[in-house]
Amino acid sequence: MSETDRSTEAGTCTAVVGLQWGDEGKGKIVDLLAADHDAVVRYNGGANAGHTVVVGSEKYALHLVPSGILYPGVLAVVGNGVVVDPEKLLEEIDGLEARGVCTKSLVVSSRAHVVAPYHKLEDEVRERLLSRGGGGGGGGGGGGGGGVAIGTTKRGIGPCYADKAQRSSAIRVGDLLRPDVLREKLETACRFKRTRLVDIELGDDLDPAILTERLAAVGERLRPRVTDTTYLLHDLLGEGKRILFEGGNATLLDVDHGTYPFVTSSNCTALGISTGTGVPGRRLDRVVGIMKAYSTRVGAGPMPTELEDATGELLRARGNEYGTTTGRPRRCGWLDLVAARYSVMINGVTEVALMLFDVLAGFEELKICTAYEVAGVGGADGAAGERTARFLPDAVELERVTPVYETLAGFGEEITGAKKWADLPTKARGYVEFVEAFLGVPVTIVSVGPGREQTLVG
Ligand code: GDP
Ligand code: IMO
Ligand code: MG
Repeated sequence: MSETDRSTEAGTCTAVVGLQWGDEGKGKIVDLLAADHDAVVRYNGGANAGHTVVVGSEKYALHLVPSGILYPGVLAVVGNGVVVDPEKLLEEIDGLEARGVCTKSLVVSSRAHVVAPYHKLEDEVRERLLSRGGGGGGGGGGGGGGGVAIGTTKRGIGPCYADKAQRSSAIRVGDLLRPDVLREKLETACRFKRTRLVDIELGDDLDPAILTERLAAVGERLRPRVTDTTYLLHDLLGEGKRILFEGGNATLLDVDHGTYPFVTSSNCTALGISTGTGVPGRRLDRVVGIMKAYSTRVGAGPMPTELEDATGELLRARGNEYGTTTGRPRRCGWLDLVAARYSVMINGVTEVALMLFDVLAGFEELKICTAYEVAGVGGADGAAGERTARFLPDAVELERVTPVYETLAGFGEEITGAKKWADLPTKARGYVEFVEAFLGVPVTIVSVGPGREQTLVG
């Protein structure tokens, strides 16, 4: 096949994307599906992601390394759309190797952007200034984002993507391998950053000479892994291989389609795969939407079904809802199917994996949000005070909605030991069937615990 004639490739592509505000259990499902794929590819975000894989008594929290890494034969690819903190990446690689996980198959795009130490400083300073000036924020949304901290993970994600768009002071992974170019770029970057970070003590993180030495050393260690991942992926497809794309973060945090401005800075949806890897969207055969059986959110921003009461506490306790990356308690609430149906639409979801279903056992009744009452002036969907089944991704608008619930009967029995669909209590099956009918796509995976074996596939 010639270099340009790649239209008849036989390989297949599957995407795994989060349908809510993150932490839906993507890591578990990527690990599960990786067994039937040849490569697992991250295409967006960075170390703000925290994907958990549990194998027996071992628990792995992956941030930059794709969740397929536990399978020795599976290629792990960090695509061009990811923002790579190279020191964090090495730390993660070393940590995995120390636990006996072989990471030889991990490769990184030379065109992925580098999160430098000053990006993390910028992230922190910005959040600090906003929480000082904005008031509120914290648990609830607190308005439409004017001066309110986002509650970022402080991993330098926003500042790095901003530099990527800005271009003049951006650094890519390939630059780490050319110390002379790296030094020049760091001189420019530090010059700009110093004018912005005036109210903090200037330390080593803004010294071009020290930074060059530090980052070039990391680049040297990464050198064997740095490659053109776009051609690599198309070559794999040409050989008929099966590729699995692993979304970082989630749909409602997508910079274009999420609850802006309380979002992250990348396209976390399946739409980000094409720009983040160079594999066109039409190649996707299967899009698996990962959804918790209830809602969680970490950081600020509107969340219509949030429960700031004993029921919310119970969900947090039963689901152990504390952030994988930052350890922050997650905000909890009932399942929001208005939001989920929007996410299914945006991603072109073909099937849903319903996660943490075991957490719902024991509740007398279960509520599911199926519409919003829009209060105040002018929702995108029409006049004030109206009921809508459409999601309102603008934070100011979403702040003003009240959820409308359907109440379903709860199921008393614990289900963590269920092995197949028929093992679930009738009322639990009713919940899943309700979700399927509302979303219009099949639920093909039901997860009843963190372990690999606690998964009903059908
Ligand atoms: P991700 O960011 O989407 O990969 O999700 P996280 O790893 O941040 O958070 C999901 C958490 O739920 C992890 O601690 C998982 O081990 C855990 N988990 C995944 N599936 C289930 C499940 O079905 N039941 C329970 N109880 N925990 C689960
Ligand atoms: P995974 O892949 C949950 C949230 C942050 C914050 C906002 C912006 O584990 O599901 P950022 O640091 O990206 O600038 O923060 O987005 N956020 C996540 N929340 N899971 C994630 O990833 C997240 N990635 C970012 O809490 O509200
Ligand atoms: Mg997570």
